[in-house]
Amino acid sequence: MLTESKPEQYLKIRTTKLLINNEWIDSISGKTFKTINPATGEIICEIAEADVRDVDRAVKVARTAFESREWATMSSSNRGKLLYRLANLIEEHADELARLETLDNGKPLTDSLNIDLPLTIACYRYYAGWADKIQGKTLSTNSPFFSYTRHEPIGVIGQIIPWNFPLVMQAWKLAPALAAGNTVVLKPAEQTPLTALRVGELIVEAGFPPGVVNILPGYGPTAGAAIARHADIDKVAFTGSTEVGRLVMEAAAKSNLKRVTLEMGGKSPNIVFADADMDQAIEGAHSALFFNQGQCCAAGSRLFVEEKCYDEFVAKSVERAKQRIVGNPFDAKVEQGPVIDQMQLNKVVSYIESGISEGARLLCGGSQVGNNGFFIEPTVFADVQDYMKIAQEEIFGPVMSIIKFKDIDEVIQRANATIYGLAAGVWTKDISKAHAIINNVRAGTIWVNCYEIFDAAAPFGGFKQSGIGRELGEYGLQEYTEIKTVTIKL
Ligand code: NAI
Ligand code: MG
Repeated sequence: MLTESKPEQYLKIRTTKLLINNEWIDSISGKTFKTINPATGEIICEIAEADVRDVDRAVKVARTAFESREWATMSSSNRGKLLYRLANLIEEHADELARLETLDNGKPLTDSLNIDLPLTIACYRYYAGWADKIQGKTLSTNSPFFSYTRHEPIGVIGQIIPWNFPLVMQAWKLAPALAAGNTVVLKPAEQTPLTALRVGELIVEAGFPPGVVNILPGYGPTAGAAIARHADIDKVAFTGSTEVGRLVMEAAAKSNLKRVTLEMGGKSPNIVFADADMDQAIEGAHSALFFNQGQCCAAGSRLFVEEKCYDEFVAKSVERAKQRIVGNPFDAKVEQGPVIDQMQLNKVVSYIESGISEGARLLCGGSQVGNNGFFIEPTVFADVQDYMKIAQEEIFGPVMSIIKFKDIDEVIQRANATIYGLAAGVWTKDISKAHAIINNVRAGTIWVNCYEIFDAAAPFGGFKQSGIGRELGEYGLQEYTEIKTVTIKL
């Protein structure tokens, strides 16, 4: 286990360029940008910076690849084999990829190794299995006509991913798109390009034909926007802020009406009833909020606790938060690393200030830790009111907001009083209460007596302004196919 303060010395950064047509090239402008180690604030390396012209170039080769014999007529089982091979290669390099992820993102190495890598590998394997099971239906239309459907790939897909789970988000995007026979131009987040590029190398090694997967690191307003408005991209899939999701959809509408799937923000209610197993609920609510430095779209960031157990719950949650070990993410004991960058740190700190000034009760944390890197103390607010900014807006940091409620009808109504609808949690031993929450809270995922449990087979996505479409599972696959109806006169 590495505990050195400069882990990057032990990690070889192999690839820093754009992957286009299975070749590693500089950007046309020759520009580069820096990727930073959030645990120290130091520069890791320079990365080739894609811009409009590079996106154009990548879309052309992705189009050629989409129409090529090599890809378009490849048997679906062979597409599956390529994905299995990629999953195996990622597994062989899991240790290296986990370290690279921790270096670039700041998440604890224990999490990278035990959560991010297994989820990534499982996602590629899951969709590898789907590749030769994508099929239409025969329809019972009126004679003398016979109709059936074909599920065909959409074409060239643009994919824009965030920095909070770089490898996992890449897998959620690439795996279903490739299983269905599309080709891809993917832009990783500017904060975390390293693992996306390393997986790019493994994609070439696995034997994907040139142009099928193109990876273009770069900034959102330039490379990202160029993808969203490109007239020869058939679909764009985006994960990130609701604000940018809106821009992506607008650009899609104004260019060529490309298909859009969006996975955006959340302000997910996590509801604890007094009859719940208290210890489980406290630990569950703790990780529902603090996992990944609080940088999860599905974070349980409105923690509703029933009046009857409120005082006990608050006291124990504060105790637990105070024990949370913050520090060097390469240290095996550490539970919480830095947030991603200075901007995110400033944003979180300003939310903490707003919580204090709006009168929420700050019970622990509240400050930056040290001056090196972007660490924030695990912070807990109690007596948070629904109207407060910290109860309405996505903080995306290690800040827990505990809110009191009295009864089930009230909590359902308050849980739904948000523009978001990504996820929700409920902690109870009463099956009727659980079902009342399941059926009445408007969210894409409901976790009962657990939280943030992901599985490649279980679709994920948002109601309301949290998103459009689903990722993972069979529903996630459907977002990457067009349905063609064929009618034959007999
Ligand atoms: P963002 O939405 O700006 O970034 C996500 C991705 O979109 C990145 O690859 C970025 O380069 C790209 N992008 C940015 N502007 C674009 C544009 N005009 N056109 C096309 N692509 C563009 O999110 P950011 O600034 O990194 O984080 C801001 C907040 O967004 C966070 O504090 C958090 O609240 C939320 N967020 C939500 C995520 C989620 O998992 N749903 C992930 C990351 C951020
Ligand atoms: Mg970085």
